[in-house]
Amino acid sequence: MSNGLLKGKKGIIFGALNNQSIAWKVAERCHEEGAEFILSNAPIAMRMGEMDALAKSTGSDVMGADATSLEDLEKLFDAAIAKFGKIDFILHSIGMSVNVRKGKHYTDINYDWLQKGWDVSAVSFHKVMRIAYEKDCMNEWGSILALTYIAAQRTFPDYNDMADNKSYLESIARSFGYYFGEKKVRVNTISQSPTVTTAGSGVKGFGGFMGYAEAMSPLGNADANDCANYCVAMFSDLTKKVTMQNLFHDGGFSSSGVTHKVIEKFD
Ligand code: NAI
Repeated sequence: MSNGLLKGKKGIIFGALNNQSIAWKVAERCHEEGAEFILSNAPIAMRMGEMDALAKSTGSDVMGADATSLEDLEKLFDAAIAKFGKIDFILHSIGMSVNVRKGKHYTDINYDWLQKGWDVSAVSFHKVMRIAYEKDCMNEWGSILALTYIAAQRTFPDYNDMADNKSYLESIARSFGYYFGEKKVRVNTISQSPTVTTAGSGVKGFGGFMGYAEAMSPLGNADANDCANYCVAMFSDLTKKVTMQNLFHDGGFSSSGVTHKVIEKFD
């Protein structure tokens, strides 16, 4: 289904690893709505080769960039500028915690791993925006988005240091959003329901997370396709004055104290 909401818009989409990735669904929907974009991911993810199929189906170029490397990002943005001139949207769909991957307990965290995960999951958003800002390559009324999770506001055991990384990420969106306002560009984070993906499934007890969130959300969990639709809305001209927000996209989870489905389990 296309409404041509992104007709003529150009962008960069970070983080499509495989067809479960949220960024993958966003790329497919943006393509359907008429956008053109470059797909980017860490060089190691690109070696897995799955992105080529997405590049083909969406008519996109693929370019590797470690999102923690200013040098890589500079090359990527130069390529985007050479291809498109100015761009209209950026999706940061990047997250990774070494402590989560290696099962290190939060109370016994490894600080070198924390720094690595913080750089990949949060500071990389600053780096992406910094390069876009310095190169002045965003069109007026452009839109920049990153994906986050409600563990930034509330404690979810086993989400580990990703909770702290997400808090930092959301703060960067507010802070940089202020400066991008001068360029008439909006910056927001979307706080998504738990979603079955490679990154999501890496969190211990993820099945429990999903089930609990489903029972606690009057509309049920938002899946990756729902998230892609929301991203399209946020990239479109219909949301021009929304900026510096953390937008909950979670079927009502964030506003629910308890639901009958959960009460029934304890009654
Ligand atoms: P995913 O595993 O498909 O995507 C994560 C991406 O980050 C991968 O494509 C990976 O290659 C990329 N990445 C890792 N290190 C990188 C680096 N140094 N440079 C560039 N890219 C790098 O998983 P998913 O779930 O689609 O994650 C996308 C975003 O959505 C993440 O920010 C995640 O925290 C967020 N999110 C996910 C939820 C879930 O339950 N799956 C819920 C809420 C937010």
